[in-house]
Amino acid sequence: MIPYVKNTFLHRKYIGQTLYSCQETDSTNIRLLEQTGAPFVSGDVLTAICQSAGLGRHQRHWKSPEGGLYFSVLFEEIPALEHFYPLVLLLALAVRDTLSDASGYETFLIKWPNDLYYENHKISGILTQSRSQGAYTNAVIGSGINLNTAFADVKGLRNPAISLSEITGRTIPPESFLDEVLNRFDQSYQQWVLGNFTHYLPRLNQFLYGKGHPQQLKLPDREITVIPLEFTASGQLRCDVNGMIREISLGELM
Ligand code: BTN
Repeated sequence: MIPYVKNTFLHRKYIGQTLYSCQETDSTNIRLLEQTGAPFVSGDVLTAICQSAGLGRHQRHWKSPEGGLYFSVLFEEIPALEHFYPLVLLLALAVRDTLSDASGYETFLIKWPNDLYYENHKISGILTQSRSQGAYTNAVIGSGINLNTAFADVKGLRNPAISLSEITGRTIPPESFLDEVLNRFDQSYQQWVLGNFTHYLPRLNQFLYGKGHPQQLKLPDREITVIPLEFTASGQLRCDVNGMIREISLGELM
């Protein structure tokens, strides 16, 4: 059994009120989904200094050496995964705003569905996974952030990557960065519960990557070219696909 350190943060109402930390695990997403190692409940966050089998989208491996920030949030018994898509955007926005505050730069953009970019370099990825148990579904949203890792000399990456320390020239304390992200996500989660997701749309749309310009979007069976236009009130991406306006949901990409 993995020795987790458990901390409670009562200034947060829901997300990350309980934070579990460990030195190493295979994947924070999988530990929360499989409910192994601790009695995890909804809103709990698990973070690891490094992951031995970090997961990325499309069954890819997410390299997770020490120096990055890796964490996942558990949501139990959600009625339907579609209901949940706005939350993925709200976590992306929380990470974006924290990157922006920590660096003093505004140019961090949300590349739908799961990436954050700084000047055409990937700095963070988000992976949503779910598991059904009878009538209910449990879901996790996990985020990997290049905080203090070095990418300048890494060859052969699919997308050029960068870390926050490479941008700022400073080492960023992971604990305080995560604390800021969780404070923001806890606030926006509460607004989402109140039905106020649309309050966040102007900022989400302000920071949409590639708006108005053709982008490649990977579907499970093929890649298509889309022109991102804006996020919608249900957390979909409205885009132009070959001259037709379509709303694409996260579920279509999984
Ligand atoms: C991607 O860009 O493909 C998504 C990467 C998501 C990585 C994070 S790290 C924390 C959480 N645990 C995992 O195994 N994956 C996510």
